[in-house]
Amino acid sequence: MPQTILITGGCGFFGTWIIRRLLDDGDRPVVMDLTSNTKRWSILLAPEEIARVPFHAVAIDDTAAMLAEVERIKPDAIIHLAGLQVPTCRDNPLAGAKVNVLGTLNVFEAAKARKAATGSSPRIVYASSAAVFGPDAEYGEQQVGDHSIPRPTTHYGAFKLCTEHAAKAYWTANQVASVGLRPLTVYGPGRDTGMTSFPTRAIAAAIHGKPFDIPFTGPTAYIHMREVADMFLACARKPMTDGLVYTVGGDVLDTAGFIRALAAQLPGAEKLITASGGNLPIAANLDDAALRKAYPGLLRIPLAQGIAETITVFRKMHAAGKLEI
Ligand SMILES: NC(=O)c1ccc[n+]([C@@H]2O[C@H](COP(=O)([O-])OP(=O)(O)OC[C@H]3O[C@@H](n4cnc5c(N)ncnc54)[C@H](O)[C@@H]3O)[C@@H](O)[C@H]2O)c1
Repeated sequence: MPQTILITGGCGFFGTWIIRRLLDDGDRPVVMDLTSNTKRWSILLAPEEIARVPFHAVAIDDTAAMLAEVERIKPDAIIHLAGLQVPTCRDNPLAGAKVNVLGTLNVFEAAKARKAATGSSPRIVYASSAAVFGPDAEYGEQQVGDHSIPRPTTHYGAFKLCTEHAAKAYWTANQVASVGLRPLTVYGPGRDTGMTSFPTRAIAAAIHGKPFDIPFTGPTAYIHMREVADMFLACARKPMTDGLVYTVGGDVLDTAGFIRALAAQLPGAEKLITASGGNLPIAANLDDAALRKAYPGLLRIPLAQGIAETITVFRKMHAAGKLEI
């Protein structure tokens, strides 16, 4: 049976790839976002596919509007992606809390209302982040995973951690079940904003033949968005209990290593792409064994393959005059 899957923040980078997969799999994506922005969708979706995706303009932090729309849509699952990223939360923590914390609580309130009305709540999968962890220095040499103590040092990480605890509380108090996923540096076509968007934008810059600086030098965990979409959908489709959270891994490289991997496929990139600054404030050596055990058969896309796939899409966009940096 095709499933109706509501995607909040569905016009963003994650949403675009998740919609692509849902259409490929024959499910029914329904999108909620502030405004209908199809710029990222047009990278992966044909115009007739874009026209077929139902869109609802709702601010995630507007409780009444959220509850009313979810009641109208009656989703089987909600993939909650709407959020503000690290720099925005740093510059405007109050807006960050409103969207990232209150907005997430609204998703759970809407699911709770559906449970009260029908006896079952939509399955919730929400984007947490590896930013719930502090810098590598906090954790020594160990791999950081689901049993590590979160020690966020950014507003964004603190808000994401708050939502993880709230998710557990919604299970305890209301039996509304959820899965939270904690990726770090997600890359691929459509990644254009946020602290960890620079490696993707560096690939675009190298194709343009323009110099570009990645403003961090230390290690991070790189994961292609097609792989992350597979994780969100595996979680959204399986019956769930509890308020669980899984750390997401990736290929761990410093920025010099990323530039070498890029130059292996785009010779000359090493002359255009530079790295400056220090480490990201988030542990890189992430352990996703628990996620892969709970959901066997998840995709794994090594960095070289992910870069190659990104270059293929970016070259087509470049030829059409549509590749932005
Ligand atoms: N990109 C990454 O590497 C990464 C890593 C870890 C976690 N995450 C999380 O994953 C989620 C999706 O990330 P993304 O890269 O797709 O981000 P994005 O910025 O591309 O998309 C976010 C979407 O949320 C929407 N949005 C913002 N405020 C809203 C509001 N008040 N009401 C409704 N919609 C609103 C935006 O319009 C946008 O379409 C976010 O919650 C982000 O924090 C991202």
